[in-house]
Amino acid sequence: MEKRLVINNLREIRGSFFTPKIWADKSKEYLASVFGADWQDEYYVWDCAAGTGNLLAGLSNEYNVWASDVDQGNVETMQSLIDIDENLNLLPVHVFQFDFLNDSFDKVPEELKKIIDDPEKRKKLIVYINPPYAESSGGEKAKTGVSTQHKTHDDYKKLLGKASNELFSQFIIRIADLIPHCNLAMFSTLKYLNSSNFKNLRRVFSASFMNGFMVHADTFDNVHGKFPIGFLIWKLTADYHISEYEEKPSEFPKEIKLDVLDTAGNKIATKGFYNGIEYINKWFVENNALAKESIGKVYYTSNDFQQNNLVFISLTETTSHLSCNEIAKSNLVQCSIYFAARHCFEHTWINHNDQFLYPNDGYKNDTEFQNNCLVYTLFHGKNNIQSQHGINHWIPFTEKEVGAREKFESNFMSNFLKGRTLSAEAAAVLGAGKELWKYYHATIKNNKTVSHNASYYDIREYFQGRKESGTMNTKSTDETYNALLAALRGTLKTLTVKIQPKVYKYGFLKE
Ligand SMILES: C[S@@+](CC[C@H](N)C(=O)[O-])C[C@H]1O[C@@H](n2cnc3c(N)ncnc32)[C@H](O)[C@@H]1O
Repeated sequence: MEKRLVINNLREIRGSFFTPKIWADKSKEYLASVFGADWQDEYYVWDCAAGTGNLLAGLSNEYNVWASDVDQGNVETMQSLIDIDENLNLLPVHVFQFDFLNDSFDKVPEELKKIIDDPEKRKKLIVYINPPYAESSGGEKAKTGVSTQHKTHDDYKKLLGKASNELFSQFIIRIADLIPHCNLAMFSTLKYLNSSNFKNLRRVFSASFMNGFMVHADTFDNVHGKFPIGFLIWKLTADYHISEYEEKPSEFPKEIKLDVLDTAGNKIATKGFYNGIEYINKWFVENNALAKESIGKVYYTSNDFQQNNLVFISLTETTSHLSCNEIAKSNLVQCSIYFAARHCFEHTWINHNDQFLYPNDGYKNDTEFQNNCLVYTLFHGKNNIQSQHGINHWIPFTEKEVGAREKFESNFMSNFLKGRTLSAEAAAVLGAGKELWKYYHATIKNNKTVSHNASYYDIREYFQGRKESGTMNTKSTDETYNALLAALRGTLKTLTVKIQPKVYKYGFLKE
């Protein structure tokens, strides 16, 4: 038991997990689709992070296959598996210990070295890998130290910037630099395709995308989380060494389409990844001239789905790393569009890496869309405005409309909404919201200890209460309230569906 723990720990430290058979088999179908049915006879294959050979099992022409790993134990296991596992066709002399991120290529077996050194032969070389995914960029999951101890890290640190912390990007850059014109067939996460941290890598990785698929990461052992792992096949195209890249334009594709596979390996969709388009946060900053007379703040961070949880509205200051934008009359609509675009789709494993983008101008003349976004923002759960933190400018109704016992501190929002033509869907949300406010004010009429300036958040807190841990309960014991809230959420859902296609139409997201 203890030994197993040690082994697991070692694996964790190396950032390793192993390719399940279903995806190893599927990747070979994709290789055949790119290189032809006879690819195993016509191409050379090198798995330079071979582990115990999972990826190579099932290959038939052992004379064309090489397998190496940094870990001598893995190499020895592979050697012994050759005799036992009839699926693992490898020549013992083709299996060797090699640290791909440190060692000189002079260490690889002579026959393989000849292929790497021959400009024609290396066009026939497929580097077929599932490299380690450890990173050292900080945070709970980062495996500090793992990816910064390598020669490759030092050699390319300046060039790669933030991406140099990721082991798999170090594999990519070393392959691109030292084996130009080879083919790369690689399992990895997909952030290198479009995220801003990988801009530098894309600038130097010139390659044609040939084919690929993506699957849910939790189909891999030891991997948890809502994100995809992809298998992509690339033909490297650069005619130069990366050290000379400054003078050469990158040929990284602007658009990549991957097959989305379900857990059984069936194709269920196609997914696009885009590169070279400006991101939404650039638009947001450009279009938010300093807001005077703030009514709140919108907090936000990087441009992708996985960060949407950190997009919220509040009256409080935070010392966190988040970006913050003051909201005022002049930019409330703009902020609402930003907020609605980022929240109107749920984060899934498929859209995990999607970047929100700099939109086209279409939204500017679409007042219905603008008002839909505004109403959506008023009644969304990430609108954390609370009257205990300052003046609540976010009450969408007048005192009369909801039967308040006293005048509100601010009538900003009901004035702001006055005279706006609302879609039926937005009007339904406001209508359901009004019923909730009315019920709240009727309930607190004679209770002077509770604020009549309540926000949407405050109303929920009042009825739902909190657990001992401090988090708000999800339901109230007051059934009338529960029904009113459910009705409001129902109308908000319908409004969300109305907003969604426009988010694509105006280019905040790309299909
Ligand atoms: C994700 S596992 C993949 C193993 C196997 N190819 C598979 O698909 O199941 C990554 C492998 O990379 C190896 N590795 C880590 N760093 C390496 C390095 N610098 N050079 C070569 N191999 C390395 C690990 O030992 C591990 O076996």
